[in-house]
Amino acid sequence: MIGIICAMDEEIGEIIKSMQNSNSNFFYGFNFIEGILCGQKCVVVLCGVGKVHAAMCTQTMIIKYNPKFIINIGVAGGIGENINIGDIVIADSVLQHDFDVSPFRPKGEISGLDITNIPCSSYLNNKIYNSIKELSDYSVHIGPIMTGDQFINSSDTLEMLNCQFHGIACEMEGGSIGQVCYVNKIEFAVIRIISDKANDTSHVDFSQFVKYSSKLCFKLIIELLKQI
Ligand code: ADE
Repeated sequence: MIGIICAMDEEIGEIIKSMQNSNSNFFYGFNFIEGILCGQKCVVVLCGVGKVHAAMCTQTMIIKYNPKFIINIGVAGGIGENINIGDIVIADSVLQHDFDVSPFRPKGEISGLDITNIPCSSYLNNKIYNSIKELSDYSVHIGPIMTGDQFINSSDTLEMLNCQFHGIACEMEGGSIGQVCYVNKIEFAVIRIISDKANDTSHVDFSQFVKYSSKLCFKLIIELLKQI
């Protein structure tokens, strides 16, 4: 069983529409849709926006379905001059930029786990990279993805985060999904399509781009499932 988690309707829509033999179960506030996608047994769920929703949903998925892999796909704000709207980013690790007990420990370090960057599955990342290579019209970047309960909408915040954590994209779920998977020893991947540049106009770009994201998320998931 492969678990697929998205935060927003726009990201998950096409994936759900294409599932065969599907049936849904409602657990602890989340509607899990189980079925066949590209010949693989999958469970797909809309977790909602933010770290707490994502963590609750991931833990529930693990308890109820025990997936072999969990894949989080959606949109993200791109960081840096060479990462543009429409590019694809693959997380080699995820971190939580708003985890901050910095009087005592470095910013971003997760208390109790004592690490900042949670490594993503290199097995899945190789498969993702190979599958995306088949889609020649996209630029692909690999690096840390930064998560926080904040839509980044300012060049100043962006610069500060980039200096502290050297991430290539920011979003609001991947880091907490990663933390839950890490603790439960489940291999996971985070794939994001850049919807905005997390700068002062990111809300405008995001609103325009997110409408198109569903088709892209679907395309990427299908290519990946063919390789797993
Ligand atoms: N997801 C997409 N764009 C984002 C941004 N600018 N900040 C946080 N999450 C995002």
